Amino acid sequence: MSIKRDIVVGTTVAEMHQIVAAARLHGSTVGCIPTMGYLHDGHASLIRAASAKHGLVVVSIFVNPTQFGPQEDFERYPRNLERDIHVVTNAGGSVVFAPTVEEMYPTGAQSTIHIPHISEILEGAVRPTHFDGVATVVSRLFEAMQPDEAFFGQKDLQQTLIIKHMVASSSIPEVGKVTVTVLPTQREPNGLARSSRNVYLSVKDHDDALVIYRALSVASHLARSGEYSKKALEQTMLNTLATVPAVTVEYAVAVEAETLQTKEFFQSGDEIAFLIAVTLGRTRLIDNMVVAVD
Ligand code: PAJ
Repeated sequence: MSIKRDIVVGTTVAEMHQIVAAARLHGSTVGCIPTMGYLHDGHASLIRAASAKHGLVVVSIFVNPTQFGPQEDFERYPRNLERDIHVVTNAGGSVVFAPTVEEMYPTGAQSTIHIPHISEILEGAVRPTHFDGVATVVSRLFEAMQPDEAFFGQKDLQQTLIIKHMVASSSIPEVGKVTVTVLPTQREPNGLARSSRNVYLSVKDHDDALVIYRALSVASHLARSGEYSKKALEQTMLNTLATVPAVTVEYAVAVEAETLQTKEFFQSGDEIAFLIAVTLGRTRLIDNMVVAVD
């Protein structure tokens, strides 16, 4: 364990248990923010929200190998622990948990958590093992950090639903009692959702990527003005995305926000989630918006 300025950086589960137990003895509640590092203002907004509510705020930084497919960017995923520690400090976090792969997976790739149905559609259809890796690592991170509340971004909407299911069905007491809080997507002033992967984008890619926000905005606007047909809403996203030939669309859908299930026509009381995944050169980007139908 090392102490940098006011931040404690721990690398083992045993250290986390000690830190959390000591904080609880002093009456603190515990907030946690699981991340893969290379922190940006989206992560910082979660850390700030956690530090407004909890005496101890633990940020985990772990590029989780089990959620990357064999052809994906695990090796080249950006990493910079020193910089991340800075971001955590400035946002009011108190502890960084930066475990090794061996610490998180001591006996190698063993039992994994699978959440049926919702793990298999959209992101799960394109990345078949992704959400098993996410659910498994988040359960283990919760066991290590033992939080009262964990903070996640709407940027990864499907991930938040899977984590809620994982918590609700967990037989591990420290995991089953965690409150999952979801906070809004932080964007650049031009609308592009902040993402660690944005560093892969060239200046032109970055300009091209703005079409994702445009497509989501057009569809949201259309829904707010009374268009409830799934087909029409999806077509308007596809038409907008097609204006930038460099963008390859993986999916652009309008679904029911709680379940991500398909519905031909939305109705009063529904929440519509617009979800888009594209590739731009070698970079894959996802984003979403949710609109309540009144
Ligand atoms: P990572 O991509 O680092 O994201 C960590 C958390 O930050 C997630 O909850 C994500 O939704 C949130 N986040 C990312 N970009 C955001 C933005 N622009 N605005 C608001 N929140 C944002 O998601 C993961 O890591 C991993 O899958 C993880 C849950 C840590 C499991 O390995």
